[in-house]
Amino acid sequence: MQQTTKIAPSILSADFARLGEEVRAITEAKADYVHVDVMDGHFVPNITIGAMVVKALRPHSALPFDVHLMIAPVDAFIAEFAQAGADIITFHPEAGPHPHRTIQLIKSLGKKAGLSLNPGTPLTAVEWLLPDIDLVLVMSVNPGFGGQKFIDSSLHKIKELRRRIDAVSEAQGGRPIDLEVDGGINIATAKQAIAAGADVLVAGTATFQGGAAEYAPNIAALRG
Ligand code: DX5
Ligand code: ZN
Repeated sequence: MQQTTKIAPSILSADFARLGEEVRAITEAKADYVHVDVMDGHFVPNITIGAMVVKALRPHSALPFDVHLMIAPVDAFIAEFAQAGADIITFHPEAGPHPHRTIQLIKSLGKKAGLSLNPGTPLTAVEWLLPDIDLVLVMSVNPGFGGQKFIDSSLHKIKELRRRIDAVSEAQGGRPIDLEVDGGINIATAKQAIAAGADVLVAGTATFQGGAAEYAPNIAALRG
């Protein structure tokens, strides 16, 4: 079922004044994805960065850009992020009236599509869409800020999703669907999330703590 866990550092915890350098540093530190948190101050109570920053960062790493859109409405911005260099575009089902249409739009642009579940969002929001997506992002904190505490009930959700993802993936001839967990990941919660079935871990605080010399050991420690 599981290969090595992938680590996706969230650049929300990087030094925003030196973002290009930070993206190069996590790339050298053997991150698997670059996780970009896009917030609009409306869908979530914080404003971060937009497609212009994704475009500016693109030449600094060959890793897949895992772009997490916490914005509503979302459809009008998908093409901009695709052109800016996103590889995986993840959105929240609450962000638009027709999630399946948003998935079609992302895929029509040649990008991988992900759906994100907030702590209060039931699995039913994603289950009929699993055959069409490449990634499920389980929020283990409420979206909006880095550095929050892991919500333990997420573990049960991860376990349930693992089962459903495996069933869909098997029915589709082994097509990979990532199960990514985002929020409050540290060495202890990483272990729990991996045991529950996660295969990608987003880590902001836990990656960037201690300065650039620590990024490689921080990332390695999270893989379990
Ligand atoms: C929260 C973001 C997360 C966050 C994770 O809305 O989606 O990616 O930055 O930060 P840590 O790892 O510090 O909890
Ligand atoms: Zn995120």
